[in-house]
This record gives sequence, structure tokens and C-alpha cells, in this order.
Amino acid sequence: MQERDWRFCLAPMMDWSDRHCRYFWRLLSRRARLYTEMVTTGAILRGDRDRFLRFNPEEQPLALQLGGSDPRALAECARIAEDYGYDEVNLNCGCPSDRVQEGRIGACLMAEPDLVAECVAAMRDAVRIPVTVKHRTGIDDLDSEEHLHRFISTIAQTGCEVFIVHARKAWLQGLSPKENREIPPLLYDRVFALKPLFPQLTIVINGGITSIPECQELLQQVDGVMLGREAYHNPFLLADVDREIYREDCAPLSRDEVLDAFIPYCEAQIAKGGAS
Ligand SMILES: Cc1cc2nc3c(=O)[nH]c(=O)nc-3n(C[C@H](O)[C@H](O)[C@H](O)COP(=O)(O)O)c2cc1C
Repeated sequence: MQERDWRFCLAPMMDWSDRHCRYFWRLLSRRARLYTEMVTTGAILRGDRDRFLRFNPEEQPLALQLGGSDPRALAECARIAEDYGYDEVNLNCGCPSDRVQEGRIGACLMAEPDLVAECVAAMRDAVRIPVTVKHRTGIDDLDSEEHLHRFISTIAQTGCEVFIVHARKAWLQGLSPKENREIPPLLYDRVFALKPLFPQLTIVINGGITSIPECQELLQQVDGVMLGREAYHNPFLLADVDREIYREDCAPLSRDEVLDAFIPYCEAQIAKGGAS
């Protein structure tokens, strides 16, 4: 079923994967699974909720990525996300920025598998849509395979079935978020090794993927791929996804066709007052 298919995902990216960008990506692939930028529980519960959560129905299948670590707040936000019509709620356990660490959000949660499990259990109890987790292979000195396996198995005990693994560790001190996407080496083998260990889980690999043939090769080892930066450096790569990854019998798209479809959307947005 399309809504429960993680074969090709586009990554949550702050200041990038907003609803306009996602609409554009959707014109290129009808099947890719899209993720919002991370939204914190505080922003949803105390901020301008609709500004953070509204989306165009065309964007679906669409996941809301949440940042937080309070089980009750996360459960409440998951419920709100389901009411908005999102297809999935994803918990961010991979972002290493100082700002989110202070809020006990993101990659620092990899040190607290029991707390993450409590959060995921509370979210799962609140909604029927899938609750998934995006994380790293490790953080700081908690970067052994054993720790990664303990993290996943603790959370999987809640019934969580989908794990999106950015295939590199993060250093919580000393590296910027950008450096943490470039300096720690990619360890695809660590992610491949999860599949035989947890065959019942859906394992999605992320980090450094730049082409469709590479996706096809990775899909021999894991259940899904997630692309981030390549989708904004080279969005036209997405025009091959439905044919090459999902084996759909559709005619190739031209750049002109995509732009012809995007221009009316842009005009309508401008008429409504701009990009926000
Ligand atoms: C500009 C930017 C913003 C990002 N924001 C988020 C975010 O909000 N949540 C998250 O889980 N990851 C975030 N990431 C990390 C990406 O989701 C992804 O894990 C990372 O870029 C590695 O994938 P790639 O090599 O395909 O880009 C961000 C990455 C970039 C480049």
C-alpha cells in the first residue's frame, strides 16, 4: 500500500523542505515519501500551529517530523498531526545542534533509549498512523554497534516498525550541524547489518546518496533510501523515481512540464501574499 511504503523518502530539512519545496518535489515524483522540516512540540502546542502544520493535500504521502522528548507533549502533537491528515509522525533523534540539545531534542536522545521508547509508546498509543524514528549510528563515545542495536531494540519493543538511519555518528560538542553531516564517515555497513538482525523492521538508509542507481543498489540491502541534499542540488533526479524505483509505467517528464505545472502554484501563492 502506498501510504506504508518507505522505499524512496525525501529528508526532513530545516529551512528547506517546507510546503512549497515539497509541492515542487511532488511534481517530480508522485510516489516519493516526503518529510516536513522538524517542528518542536513547543511550536505546535504554544505557537502558531497552523503556520507550522498546514500542507497541500498533493504533498501526500507526507510525514511530520517532531522534535521533543516529553512523552505527553509528543503524544498530543502526534494526535494533532493525525487530525491534520499527516500519514506518519517521525521523531527526530538525529539533529546535533546546540540549540536542540539544550531542549533535550534530537541526537542527544540516542543516549536515552528508554526515554525514546517511552515517547514512541505514548505517540503510538495516541494515533493510528505509523510512528517512526530518525537517528544516527551513534553519538560521541556511544558509537558502538552494541549501542545502536540496544537503541533500536529498546524502541522496537514499543511496536515501532520503521527506523531511518543517517549512516554516520554525530559529535555533540565541537562540530556544527553542517560539519556533522560531512566529517564523521559514512558507515553503510552498520546500517546493512541491521537488516538480518531485525528482519521484521523497515530499515531506511540515509546519508550521502546522490543517484538513482545508487538507490537501487542500496535497496538490495535495506528497505528504503532517504535523500536530503541531493534533492535540492539536483531535484530533477526525482523525475526518474516513479519509473526506476517504483517500476511505474509512466512517460518521462521534461523540465518544461514540471515548470509549467509549478508556475500556477507560485502565482497562486504570491496572490495569497507570499511564501510563509
Ligand atoms: C539544510 C538541512 C537541514 C536539515 N534539517 C533536518 C531536520 O529538520 N531534521 C532532521 O532529522 N534532519 C535534518 N537534516 C539532516 C537530513 O535530514 C539528512 O539526514 C542529512 O542531510 C544526510 O542526508 P544527505 O546526505 O542525503 O543530505 C538537515 C540537513 C540539511 C542539509
